[in-house]
Amino acid sequence: MRRKRKAGHLAALKPSSAQPVISLLLLLLFLYSNEILGLKLPNVDPILNANTVCLTLPGLTRRQLEVCMRNPDVTASAIQGIQIAIHECQHQFRGHRWNCSSLETRNKIPYDSIVFKRGFRESAFAYAIAAAGVVHAVANACSMGKLKACGCDEKRRGDEEAFRIKLHRLQLEAIHRGKGMVHGVMEHFPADLPGPQDSWEWGGCSPDVEFGEKFSRDFLDARETYKDIHARMRLHNNRVGRQVVLDHMRRKCKCHGTSGSCQLKTCWQVTPEFRVVGSILKERFHVATLIKHNHHHNHHHTHRRRPSINELVYFEKSPDFCERDLGSDSAGTQGRICNKTSPGMDNCESLCCGRGHNILQQTRSERCNCKFHWCCYVVCEECRITEWVSVCK
Ligand SMILES: *[C@@H]1O[C@H](CO)[C@@H](O)[C@H](O)[C@H]1NC(C)=O
Ligand SMILES: *[C@@H]1O[C@H](CO)[C@@H](O)[C@H](O)[C@H]1NC(C)=O
Repeated sequence: MRRKRKAGHLAALKPSSAQPVISLLLLLLFLYSNEILGLKLPNVDPILNANTVCLTLPGLTRRQLEVCMRNPDVTASAIQGIQIAIHECQHQFRGHRWNCSSLETRNKIPYDSIVFKRGFRESAFAYAIAAAGVVHAVANACSMGKLKACGCDEKRRGDEEAFRIKLHRLQLEAIHRGKGMVHGVMEHFPADLPGPQDSWEWGGCSPDVEFGEKFSRDFLDARETYKDIHARMRLHNNRVGRQVVLDHMRRKCKCHGTSGSCQLKTCWQVTPEFRVVGSILKERFHVATLIKHNHHHNHHHTHRRRPSINELVYFEKSPDFCERDLGSDSAGTQGRICNKTSPGMDNCESLCCGRGHNILQQTRSERCNCKFHWCCYVVCEECRITEWVSVCK
């Protein structure tokens, strides 16, 4: 395997390798930043207003356009979240017959893709991960100070003034004890000093996940208003995706005080790695629940249980995705690379649906080491790989 590394922005600007990667928002960037054409990625933040974001974004419903006009910068961040979600979907489904590649849409939000119109397990996963992506991206953009409408989470914000006073008092106390001073530096602080090791207070900036969650609801749940089974599925799975982010927020802490001690501890929240979100949703994909249409159910025999916030729901059995059938978002598996020895989904027997495979040498370019930049573009390197592969007939 040979990897050819390229400068990120060069790869990003090479249409042949990176076109699917650079979506709408990089194109937007082109519109008002000429600097990138000089191969200098701009460090200045792009201008995100209604004209540059909403009016050039195809595929928005009327309600979404309204949301976008009110908060174009948050919408741009939401779209970036959806892009990250699609990349994660492709990672999670890389060895599957349906591999999420159809959600890669240039120039528009992906909700017009067929899988979003259907009621498959795959559709359930796609809705959930996109909704999670929006919460994740918006909340983090808030804490980076990139958005006008939000910032750090106010509920998890410490009293900075009180903290400074406490820290100062501790330092004075340490100087009074004084003996620990070595060349003016506080070296070994005696271990018998009481340090409230388990206590901590909020400090720093925690992403405003509630804001992200609310925006995800406003922007995504409003796509359609009628309450048919598809709408029920969509709304439920959106909620499942958002909840995974909320439930897996972690706390990170930092110690303060004289060196080596942890007399004061401040903590802030961080969002889970998006890979973690993807893996959790993938597990739920496997155990998703089939829901039934509301009409024609037998009152005596069907016990209709409300699906829990932890389960993905779908209402249509997935096809086997073996043959090409665009109506069900199946590209077929002919030409797909399989693995003769893998016990997983990418095993040749399973991936090729029993049609067999050829062995051939292949050179291909793949995007790799993708990085998401604020705002709003994705930069990938191009890796060239030459290897012997098994390919489905
Ligand atoms: C995903 O499937 C498509 C369509 O069959 C194929 O062109 C593409 O190479 C696949 N991607 C990966 C990563 O296997
Ligand atoms: C095929 O699958 C096996 C078992 O999972 C793995 O060890 C091997 O690296 C895979 N080969 C390729 C080319 O991906």
